[in-house]
Amino acid sequence: MKAEELLQTLVRRTGLTSQHIHTLKSLEPIAGPLAPEVALAFYDYLGRDPEMHEILWSVPGRVERLYRSFAVWYRELFSGLYDEAYARRRIQIGLVHARVGVRPGHFIPAVGIVQELTLEHLRNALRGADILAAITAFEKIMAIEIALMQESYFSALWEGLKLTENEQLALMEGARVLLEKAR
Ligand code: HEM
Repeated sequence: MKAEELLQTLVRRTGLTSQHIHTLKSLEPIAGPLAPEVALAFYDYLGRDPEMHEILWSVPGRVERLYRSFAVWYRELFSGLYDEAYARRRIQIGLVHARVGVRPGHFIPAVGIVQELTLEHLRNALRGADILAAITAFEKIMAIEIALMQESYFSALWEGLKLTENEQLALMEGARVLLEKAR
């Protein structure tokens, strides 16, 4: 999977223009400082699901580490810089999830929660036409996020099926192999 090429395709398909990028960057002063708060609400939500609770709390110190990684990820949504390095980081994050057994059925609803929390903040912080512009730009970058994550799952599965026919194992093993190759 070529990160740069994939990103350019997704930018074109979502219709993310330089105006949307400008809007996202202009939201950084509002959204950036909210990152720790969104992270807290996010892991609180995940922890209420027994399966996700087990994944997150089975490793000591994991959630504490994730608060910080999530906050960095969140701030980067509003960096205005969506280049090859950004796409590579997102693909890597997708692979890390695949490797530890987090599936799209866990991930996609969680993306919805990030959207819900963010839209609520934007609605409170902005007025009039700015709200629609912010939501439009935000939804486009989130669509790109979801697509990058899905693509990394596909590549992990594809790689893993060369090693085993067990789908769940293939996903995790394939992700492990791809993460090692990317080092
Ligand atoms: C919007 C959705 C999500 C975002 C943005 C997100 C963000 C992140 C980030 C940035 C990392 C660090 C990746 C790295 O080490 O390079 C990570 C790792 C991880 N995430 Fe998520 N995550 C999401 C959903 C989930 C869900 C639904 C679960 C389910 C339990 C989950 C569990 C984990 C686990 C177990 C790790 C590995 C932690 C470790 O290194 O021990 N994440 N996540």
